[in-house]
Amino acid sequence: MKLIEEYIEKYSKEHTRVYDADLLLELERKTHLEVMRPQMLSGYLQGQFLSFLSQMKCPDRILELGTYTGYSAICLSIGLQKGGKLHTIDINTETSEVASEYIQKSDRGDCIIQHIGEAMSIIPELKEQWDLVFLDADKINYSKYYDLILPDVKPGGLIIADNVLWNGAAAKGNPEKRAKALAAFNKKVTSDNRVKNILLPLRDGLMLMLKK
Ligand SMILES: C[S@@+](CC[C@H](N)C(=O)[O-])C[C@H]1O[C@@H](n2cnc3c(N)ncnc32)[C@H](O)[C@@H]1O
Repeated sequence: MKLIEEYIEKYSKEHTRVYDADLLLELERKTHLEVMRPQMLSGYLQGQFLSFLSQMKCPDRILELGTYTGYSAICLSIGLQKGGKLHTIDINTETSEVASEYIQKSDRGDCIIQHIGEAMSIIPELKEQWDLVFLDADKINYSKYYDLILPDVKPGGLIIADNVLWNGAAAKGNPEKRAKALAAFNKKVTSDNRVKNILLPLRDGLMLMLKK
């Protein structure tokens, strides 16, 4: 299933100005040439959307689950306040090395802190209150991550979860385990009175949740 018609994506890209475009393009190319499953990278339009939300929010503390090659971390870090920090977690050491190289190449090295390991064990060690959270690690555990993180999200804080449509499978009631887990996550969030939410059908689906 094509996520978006090519001519629409091309036109949208042509009419979107990106911060640090050359570096992000180089990182996207390197990821496609050298790294497994390059479709996991947020990419041009979604990356710019994340960056835009972050600039609107001006967060002091950002948490990202799923660094991969660092593309979304660089985009999200752009809205950080002076002295603000983005903590990003990934279990994969190889892709985290690529991320580290590109975070250093960007001018965001001082504000992005990488953690390598299981997100579920690292999150409780961070002892922070979050202004913005990006969920983009293992889809099967989104509901558990949400329960773990929500108490540490500041009132008015924003949580963004990627891939909540899972190529449409979550909407179709597909029995595949990640599709089922994402459908359960979407239902859970929509009925949770602690947050306001919107499922945005951008790319593979972004669930935006605002803590009341
Ligand atoms: C979709 S990719 C992240 C893409 C990245 N946020 C971006 O937009 O460019 C998901 C990442 O989650 C990581 N991951 C999967 N399970 C994990 C876990 N249990 N703990 C930490 N990271 C995990 C994978 O290694 C992978 O790099």
